[in-house]
Amino acid sequence: MELTLRIRRFNPETDTKPHWEEYTIDADPDQKLLDALLYVKDHLDGTLTLRKSCAQGICGSDAMRINGQNGLACRVLIKQVNTPVISIEPLYGLPLIKDLVVDMEPFWKWYRAIMPWLVNDEPAPEKERLQSAEQLARYDDSTKCILCAACTTSCPPFWANGNNYVGPASIVQAHRFIFDSRDRATAERLNIMGQAFGVWKCRTVYNCTEACPRGIRITEHIGEVKRAISLGMPKE
Ligand code: SF4
Ligand code: F3S
Ligand code: FES
Repeated sequence: MELTLRIRRFNPETDTKPHWEEYTIDADPDQKLLDALLYVKDHLDGTLTLRKSCAQGICGSDAMRINGQNGLACRVLIKQVNTPVISIEPLYGLPLIKDLVVDMEPFWKWYRAIMPWLVNDEPAPEKERLQSAEQLARYDDSTKCILCAACTTSCPPFWANGNNYVGPASIVQAHRFIFDSRDRATAERLNIMGQAFGVWKCRTVYNCTEACPRGIRITEHIGEVKRAISLGMPKE
């Protein structure tokens, strides 16, 4: 099939603002969008700049805006998009570096802020710290996050308050530890989430949940963190 990729381009060395460029290729509908982009880079315009690594939906590096919706280029098939022209843009809400590459540092800043590690200074048991299946189920969904930023960069409150809102990805990461029975920093984590930059900036827009390539129930988990702050942690 004939497919036109309409790509928002920006070269900081020559451009004052982004512009659109179009590339028409012969594409296989079963092809990944990432492969079509790499075809353009390899055969039509070697200056096209994008991030990718695993090409398997694992590393989270190729999130971008595809026909107005965030997704991973390596997880989207051309037949799923199903339009003769596919518009591709860099993620919104993060500083643009070049073409489809944004500066992820503001995203990582918020990730670091939620203490993304297990806190437990109690003496280690002889073997592993055991959990029941029910204890694992409380946070298991959040462990699927690959930190691609598709959720945070589709969230209008993050667009408006990027410097002052932790964003849904970091709330998912906080949820992952808050509801982990082995963690001992629950109060500290809930205190972080209750700050002005925390969960209360969420307006339940749901874009994050729709954007997540891992199908994580983000809005539901944000609600669980909000309830834990206002009503206390639910009993195990
Ligand atoms: Fe990506 Fe989903 Fe994690 Fe957000 S929650 S960073 S969309 S994997
Ligand atoms: Fe944003 Fe998701 Fe809340 S899109 S407003 S974090 S439900
Ligand atoms: Fe790794 Fe797409 S390239 S998730």
